[in-house]
Amino acid sequence: MRCGLAGLMLAAVVATGAAAADLSTCEGCHTPPYGPPLAGVAGRKIASVPGIEYCSALMAKSGEAWTDANLRALLTNARTFAPGCTMDSKLPPADADAIIAALKALH
Ligand code: HEC
Repeated sequence: MRCGLAGLMLAAVVATGAAAADLSTCEGCHTPPYGPPLAGVAGRKIASVPGIEYCSALMAKSGEAWTDANLRALLTNARTFAPGCTMDSKLPPADADAIIAALKALH
């Protein structure tokens, strides 16, 4: 029982550490009111945080949610996904997938 609990706690620490490291480059912008908060973004409706001034291309997609596919499209080429997007990300697909995993670990 003790060992199981310690293992769980270690897993939580490792997951938090990895998420913090991967998302550190995002955090400077992703603090309201400038950028939408990233905690809970996976699965959230696109452009749905009150008080954030989203570009019109993202607003036009607000009927959709941030699925893995939409997150991957944004992170690998934001301005193809949403022309005029304030964020201009062009991550390699493998990096985008690592970021998506880290986003899902955020709550
Ligand atoms: C230079 C500042 C900046 C950086 C760095 C940045 N972002 Fe953004 N991001 C923004 C802004 C501003 C928006 C809103 C864009 C718009 O509507 O034009 C946005 C939008 C988003 C959205 C859509 C959120 C929603 O509520 O619909 C996601 C997801 C996102 N960013 C993820 C990331 C991730 C992950 C990183 C790090 C890999 C990152 N961003 C780095 C500025 C930034």
